[in-house]
Amino acid sequence: MSFFEEKNPEMDRYLEAHASSEPEILKKLRRETYQKTTQPHMISGYQQGRLLTIISQMMRPENILEIGTFTGYATLCLAAGLTENGRITTLDVNEDLAYLPKKYFAESEHSTRIDFRLQDAKEFLNETAQFFDLIFIDADKENYAEYFRLIKPRTKSGSVIMFDNVLWYGKVLEENPKQKATQAIKELNDLIAKDDDFENLILPLRDGVNFLRRK
Ligand SMILES: C[S@@+](CC[C@H](N)C(=O)[O-])C[C@H]1O[C@@H](n2cnc3c(N)ncnc32)[C@H](O)[C@@H]1O
Repeated sequence: MSFFEEKNPEMDRYLEAHASSEPEILKKLRRETYQKTTQPHMISGYQQGRLLTIISQMMRPENILEIGTFTGYATLCLAAGLTENGRITTLDVNEDLAYLPKKYFAESEHSTRIDFRLQDAKEFLNETAQFFDLIFIDADKENYAEYFRLIKPRTKSGSVIMFDNVLWYGKVLEENPKQKATQAIKELNDLIAKDDDFENLILPLRDGVNFLRRK
């Protein structure tokens, strides 16, 4: 449940009813996420999923990076736009839940293009020399600013980055937040706004997506 859904559930239902339909595999995955996990609200929602698919299909990326796989909903949405030889690398640290994304990735038509790794994102970013066309970050908010610093060298002109939850239930409006996650998200949004190498805007979709394109 996001800040905006809580504020206006009727409008949210209207938005869902007027977006293109959700593929069967995603419906199943969403259902199972609600049945089997303790924090199902972490899943990328229906509308956000549609946005990720449309962006990926418009870009036709070769290399996608996702930080925060959870049950794999956004992974499958993003994979829909990959080129024939494209690849999505998706990272998570939750071993207990890994059986769920693994099951759905194996079932998916994109199975051979998904590289699911149980690895800490900072560790991965410090090691990789790869460049990514499209990057979606939806993980530990305390590290968001650090992720931006580590990801920037892994982008090139035209690369797109999306950070999820950048409105943090409206807490970004707090002047002196005590919560570490709020501080990090505010730091991230400030860093991005000042970075002339990117064009960006914050889309007020669900809990806010900071949407950047490298110039
Ligand atoms: C909000 S959920 C991701 C939702 C997912 N993108 C989706 O569409 O359903 C956040 C995930 O980030 C993972 N995570 C937290 N810290 C991480 C880290 N340091 N490296 C990689 N993943 C991490 C958590 O285990 C959790 O599964």
